[in-house]
Amino acid sequence: MGSEPHIVLGIESSCDETAVALVRTDRTIVAQRIASQEKEHAPYGGVVPEIAARAHAERLAPMLEAVMQDAGLRLSDVDAIAATAGPGLIGGVMVGLVSAKALAMASGKPLLAINHLEGHALSPRLADEALGFPYLLLLVSGGHCQILCVEGVGRYRRLGTTIDDALGEAFDKTAKILGLGYPGGPAVEKLAREGDPGAVPLPRPLKGSAEPHFSFAGLKSAVLRAVESGEHRAADIAASFQQAAVDCLIDRLNKALGACGTMPALVVAGGVAANMAIRGALEELALQRGMRFVAPPLALCTDNAAMIAWAGCERLPLGQSDPLDFKARPRWPLDPDAEKARGAGVKA
Ligand code: KG4
Ligand code: ZN
Repeated sequence: MGSEPHIVLGIESSCDETAVALVRTDRTIVAQRIASQEKEHAPYGGVVPEIAARAHAERLAPMLEAVMQDAGLRLSDVDAIAATAGPGLIGGVMVGLVSAKALAMASGKPLLAINHLEGHALSPRLADEALGFPYLLLLVSGGHCQILCVEGVGRYRRLGTTIDDALGEAFDKTAKILGLGYPGGPAVEKLAREGDPGAVPLPRPLKGSAEPHFSFAGLKSAVLRAVESGEHRAADIAASFQQAAVDCLIDRLNKALGACGTMPALVVAGGVAANMAIRGALEELALQRGMRFVAPPLALCTDNAAMIAWAGCERLPLGQSDPLDFKARPRWPLDPDAEKARGAGVKA
């Protein structure tokens, strides 16, 4: 690309964060705003799709205006409009994607329909200029739990995925069982600090199995049984759950590393990457394996629009853009060629 950096407007609305960001191809986050819907969903203990879609529809336009104002820019100054086009809750995705299409049409600038998972997968490169391809990525969020070999922009080889729950989902369900409220991850992590990780015997599903896939449904059920037994302190259950999760991650990553050979860097992304116990264990694994460990800042780990704009920044110089009739996709695997995990449900 030329010497002048390009600037991309990014929109994220696939779950419960409405987010808008302006990011330049030189890795500058020019402006960004994020509005969480935590309060709206808290009474239900999880994200309610209809409530989420309505909240995105109410908030997005004023946020777009605010971000442009923060940056002191007009639509004509922007080089492309990027929006999450899936996977995610379809109502919310459509609010963001349709808005992006309208902006692209009004400005005559290209539309980039971004896979939310690609946003997470490339986000570490926004924060870390030195991170080149390939890298081994652990993508752990509320909706996804995958090990990917990121070979380049648009080149993602999925080595492992979950056959039931995502890890963030397991954290959220554990929090619900323990009466800690929503979102559960940070609450479980906080309580776990006061507990003994060896106190409650919990399973490590799929540990030692041949393919580097995950399973967390059985762990969640074991947590429920531990609570119902009345024999354990809540903090010990939280700490033991977190330790079981860490053990599963490390075992599965070791398996994936065996399958893909030498990788220069181990990278973590997605909301669960905010967990310090998990970060610590991954850092240790990377050290043992002689790999660099890269974890983006916390604000880039949970859902945000800077990662969507950045995915646009990665794709734009490659001459890529998407048509205005691009369909919103509730399911959209990053690696369509990946073999289905045995016992896998419908998750992408
Ligand atoms: O990436 P993200 O913001 O949204 C999805 O695309 O799913 O991830 C949200 C998930 C939630 O399940 C939340 O409980 C989890 O990330 N999470 C955590 C922590 N912070 C957020 N899980 C464990 N420990 C944390 N500190
Ligand atoms: Zn996400």
